[in-house]
Amino acid sequence: MGLLNDKVAVITGGISGLGRASALRYAAEGARVVVADINAERGANAAAEMSSGGASIEFIQVDVTSKESQQALFDDVVSRYGQVDTVLAAAGVSSSGYISGEVSEVEAEPEERMFHNRTLEDWEKVMAVNVTGVMLTNQIAIKHMLANGNAGSIVNIASIAGRRPLPGASDYCVSKAAVIMLTQTVATEYSTSNIRVNAIGPGFIETPMTANIRQSPEWMETVMQMTPMQRMGQANEIASTALFLASDESSYFTGQTLFPNGGMFTG
Ligand SMILES: NC(=O)c1ccc[n+]([C@@H]2O[C@H](COP(=O)([O-])OP(=O)(O)OC[C@H]3O[C@@H](n4cnc5c(N)ncnc54)[C@H](O)[C@@H]3O)[C@@H](O)[C@H]2O)c1
Repeated sequence: MGLLNDKVAVITGGISGLGRASALRYAAEGARVVVADINAERGANAAAEMSSGGASIEFIQVDVTSKESQQALFDDVVSRYGQVDTVLAAAGVSSSGYISGEVSEVEAEPEERMFHNRTLEDWEKVMAVNVTGVMLTNQIAIKHMLANGNAGSIVNIASIAGRRPLPGASDYCVSKAAVIMLTQTVATEYSTSNIRVNAIGPGFIETPMTANIRQSPEWMETVMQMTPMQRMGQANEIASTALFLASDESSYFTGQTLFPNGGMFTG
């Protein structure tokens, strides 16, 4: 018996990095997994590769910033699979110009990254994906869980940046702090409805999002100064945390953010 046997899982941002590693892990534990991501061609190719060994992994295109798009995603999943049991909100951006697999984190000069030089447009782009996107995923999933009367477990990907200020990344840090508070508030509202909501706040993990950091000796020095374990994390270490929170193994957890971060902060 797998930890997610016969559970229906939706993973936004599911074709890359942390979402992808979690999708493979969930499927190995018996889940039927829908990976949802923004680029239809990349998504279809990734899902074909991910399911080639027989795993139940299917792709549905979504833009998490659009309510209509997320509604269509969850309606589609429910019509095909009957219900949604667990959701991992992993779609996210590190900055307004970043597109996973296409455009790396922009190498802006430190002065350009200062808060007073940031544009409203950039701020709104980051908030649209990282905050509104996660909010909509939670809201629409919960509506389906309540309508169907099934138990649910929602996992939101926040970041250590929601707890610790990273100079030059004010938009990202604020967006991740919002995910932590969204998780706490929503969890409290549904604590007696058999719907649990938790979050993960990873440290620096080897995914396409951190490719530029890994290529820069200066940035890597900063990461190592911040990380007592003296290494970046692997995506499968976050997938293990997601699996724990998605499954009944975490049945008494709700409203919590777990921080797999190599000892960056404690408590
Ligand atoms: N990698 C790290 O070190 C790290 C650390 C802490 C938190 N996180 C968070 O983990 C999550 C996953 O990041 P990752 O490292 O796997 O990065 P990633 O770039 O590999 O994956 C992010 C995925 O989100 C998708 N996405 C972006 N905008 C979207 C949209 N509007 N609609 C649908 N999908 C969209 C991308 O296409 C991509 O597949 C993000 O929320 C990120 O902020 C990452």
